[in-house]
Amino acid sequence: MALGNCEVAVALLLFLSCSCSVYGDAGDIITPPKPIKDPEAIVSAGNQFKLGFFSPVNSTYRYVGIWYSNISVATPVLWVANRNNPINDSSGIMTISEDGNLVVLNGQGEVRWSSNVSIGFNQSTAQLTDDGNLVLKAGQNGNLVWQSFQQPTDTYFSKMRFIANARTGNKTLLTSWRSSSDPSVGNFSAGINPLGIPEFFICGFTLQDEGDGTFILSLVQDPAYRLTYVLTSRGKLTEQYWDYGKQGWEYTWEAPSTECDIYGKCGPFGSCDAQNSPICTCLKGFVPKNQDEWKKGIWTSGCVRMTSLQCDRIQNGSEVGKEDGFMKLEMMKVPTLPSTGQIRPPNKNAKMSA
Ligand SMILES: *[C@@H]1O[C@H](CO)[C@@H](O)[C@H](O)[C@H]1NC(C)=O
Ligand SMILES: *[C@@H]1O[C@H](CO)[C@@H](O)[C@H](O)[C@H]1NC(C)=O
Ligand SMILES: *[C@@H]1O[C@H](CO)[C@@H](O)[C@H](O)[C@H]1NC(C)=O
Ligand SMILES: *[C@@H]1O[C@H](CO)[C@@H](O)[C@H](O)[C@H]1NC(C)=O
Ligand SMILES: *[C@@H]1O[C@H](CO)[C@@H](O)[C@H](O)[C@H]1NC(C)=O
Ligand SMILES: *[C@@H]1O[C@H](CO)[C@@H](O)[C@H](O)[C@H]1NC(C)=O
Ligand SMILES: *[C@@H]1O[C@H](CO)[C@@H](O)[C@H](O)[C@H]1NC(C)=O
Ligand SMILES: *[C@@H]1O[C@H](CO)[C@@H](O)[C@H](O)[C@H]1NC(C)=O
Repeated sequence: MALGNCEVAVALLLFLSCSCSVYGDAGDIITPPKPIKDPEAIVSAGNQFKLGFFSPVNSTYRYVGIWYSNISVATPVLWVANRNNPINDSSGIMTISEDGNLVVLNGQGEVRWSSNVSIGFNQSTAQLTDDGNLVLKAGQNGNLVWQSFQQPTDTYFSKMRFIANARTGNKTLLTSWRSSSDPSVGNFSAGINPLGIPEFFICGFTLQDEGDGTFILSLVQDPAYRLTYVLTSRGKLTEQYWDYGKQGWEYTWEAPSTECDIYGKCGPFGSCDAQNSPICTCLKGFVPKNQDEWKKGIWTSGCVRMTSLQCDRIQNGSEVGKEDGFMKLEMMKVPTLPSTGQIRPPNKNAKMSA
C-alpha cells in the first residue's frame, strides 16, 4: 500500500514537472534559430497571452494569432498576422527572415505575412509581452522596429493605444473580420475621429492631446478584467470582460445598438426610424434614388429631390416656378460632419465611429 502511494506521488511529480517544462520551453521569443512551427506557440512571461497557429470556427485554414493564455477559451483571437493570406495546411512557420523581419511562411517557404519594415540587421528578436503586444527588436541596442499594437486587427485590448493625427491623417484603425470564419479585412473599420462631434463616449478611456495635432486614446483598466472591444464582422463594436466566476465572457455593451446607428444606413436625404417598418424613408420632397434597391431594403444610395432647387432652375434658364423655403424637421440627428465646406479644428472630443 505504502509503495502504491509513493508511485502515485512520483507519477504526479513527473506529470507536474513535465507540464512545467513544456510551458517553460515555449518561451516568449522568436529568434532566427528559434522559429515556431505549427502547432507550436509562445507564451508571454507571466502566462497572460499566447501566440500561435489557429483555425477559425468552420475553417481549416491556418493563421498566426494572439489570444489570452490563462483562461479556458482561446477566443476571441485578439490579433491575426496573415489575415489576408491563410496557410492551407499545417506546414506554416513564423520566423525571422534574412532581412530581419518577422515573417509567416508556408511549407513552400513563400512569405504569407511580413512585419515589412526596413531594418538593415538580420539578428532581430520578436517577443510577446505580458501586455499582449508582439514587439520586434533589432540592432545592438535592441531598438523597437515594429509592434502589433500599431497594426491591430479587429480587437482593442490591454494597453493598446489609438492614435489619430488630424494633419497627417495617420490613425490607428480596427478593421472587422469578413465573417466569424474568415479573418480577412471585412467591411467595417473604427478609430478615433479628432474632427467630429462626439458620437459616443466609452467610460474608462482617456484622450490625450499631444499638442502637435496628435490625439491618443487609451484605456485605463485593471488587467484582471480583460476588458476587450471587438469590431464584429457585422459592424458592431462590442465590449466584453472575462467573468472568472462563470468562466466565460460577459458582453456588457454594444454599439450601434439599433440599425439606425449605422452610419449612412438610409443614405443622403434619407431618414431612419428604428420603430418604423421599413426603417428608412425619404425626407419630404425626395424620392428614392434607386427604386429597385430601395424596395429590397438596400437604402444606402439614399434619396433625390423631386424638383430641383430654385437657384439651379434659374441657372439652367428654365421657369423659376415656386420659391424655395425651409422645412422644420424635429427629432432628427444630423450627420457627424454635416458641412462639406469647412472642417472644424480638432477638439478634445473622442469618438469611436464605425
Ligand atoms: C459552422 O457551421 C455550421 C454548419 O454549417 C453552422 O451551423 C454554424 O452556424 C457555423 N458556425 C459559425 C460560427 O459560423
Ligand atoms: C496550398 O497552397 C500551396 C501554395 O500556396 C499550393 O501550392 C497548394 O496547391 C495548396 N494546396 C491545396 C490543397 O490547396
Ligand atoms: C546575417 O547576415 C550575415 C552577414 O550578412 C550573414 O553571414 C548571416 O548568414 C545572416 N544570418 C541570417 C540568420 O540570415
Ligand atoms: C511591404 O510594404 C511595401 C510598401 O508599403 C508593399 O509594397 C509590399 O507589398 C509589402 N510587402 C509585404 C510582404 O507585405
Ligand atoms: C504614424 O504613427 C505611428 C505611431 O505614432 C508612427 O510610428 C508612424 O511613423 C506615423 N506615420 C506617419 C506617416 O506619420
Ligand atoms: C460588404 O459590403 C458590400 C457592399 O455593401 C456587400 O455587398 C457585401 O456582402 C459585404 N460583405 C460582407 C462580408 O458583409
Ligand atoms: C490569470 O491572470 C489574471 C490576471 O493577472 C490573474 O488574476 C489570474 O489569477 C490568472 N489565472 C490563472 C489561472 O493563472
Ligand atoms: C439643367 O439642364 C441640363 C440640360 O438640359 C439637365 O441635364 C440638368 O438635369 C438640368 N439641371 C437641373 C438642376 O435642372
